[in-house]
Amino acid sequence: MSRNYYIAGNWKMHKTRSEAAELAKALVTQLKDGKHKYLVAPSFTALETVAAIVKGTNILLGAQDVASEEQGAHTGEVSVLQLKDLGVQAVILGHSERRHVYKEDDELINKKVKLALKHGFEVILCVGELLEEREAGKAEAVCETQTVKGLEGVSAAELSKITIAYEPVWAIGTGKTATPEDADAIHAYIRKVIGKLYGADAAAKIIIQYGGSVKADNAAQLMAKENIDGALVGGAALKADTFVPIAKFG
Ligand code: 13P
Repeated sequence: MSRNYYIAGNWKMHKTRSEAAELAKALVTQLKDGKHKYLVAPSFTALETVAAIVKGTNILLGAQDVASEEQGAHTGEVSVLQLKDLGVQAVILGHSERRHVYKEDDELINKKVKLALKHGFEVILCVGELLEEREAGKAEAVCETQTVKGLEGVSAAELSKITIAYEPVWAIGTGKTATPEDADAIHAYIRKVIGKLYGADAAAKIIIQYGGSVKADNAAQLMAKENIDGALVGGAALKADTFVPIAKFG
């Protein structure tokens, strides 16, 4: 299978500008000979700082969210136009913290996906079940709904700009990683869903990252699985010492 591995760091609500600059500089140096695709997603406040550091390198710049409207009276929101202006190339959408803490639903996330694509951004669309949903045997159904609804109205051509990140909510920040087998099973299922929507070729090509307590010591086993094409890393992305070994696995 010729899919490229894609390793992304989601810095969440961490780091001042100077701390973000320090990490970005270390990553630029240490990943310059890395073989995979890379992205960092700092907080909005550090985007401009980090943009200047990663520009022209093999590290893409991502934002952790974007408003569902292009511009206007939306206090506290950040627009696609503002992100583009800073040199942002990709956006993470539908992260479980947005879904569950800030109550974003599939309809809102889908609106953001379409707007981001319209403005030429790559999108990492996050999906994943809660613990009680997994225990009730609903993990596949939840991921299917989030994938189908998140991608509603996205054309086959636009799909090439989409990465799916499977992040089981119970594995995020908990130190509990899905086993490579369990994660791979959901990835395979999501790939099947993409196949139903866009055909076998698109399903074979789409990059599906795993996220949820990815560390240097479990990354290689996860990514050895047929359907796991990379990682969306939270806690371990906050230091070069912990992110670089993940980013350089294999
Ligand atoms: P952790 O790696 O800290 O579990 O976070 C995963 C995540 O939510 C990345 O978006």
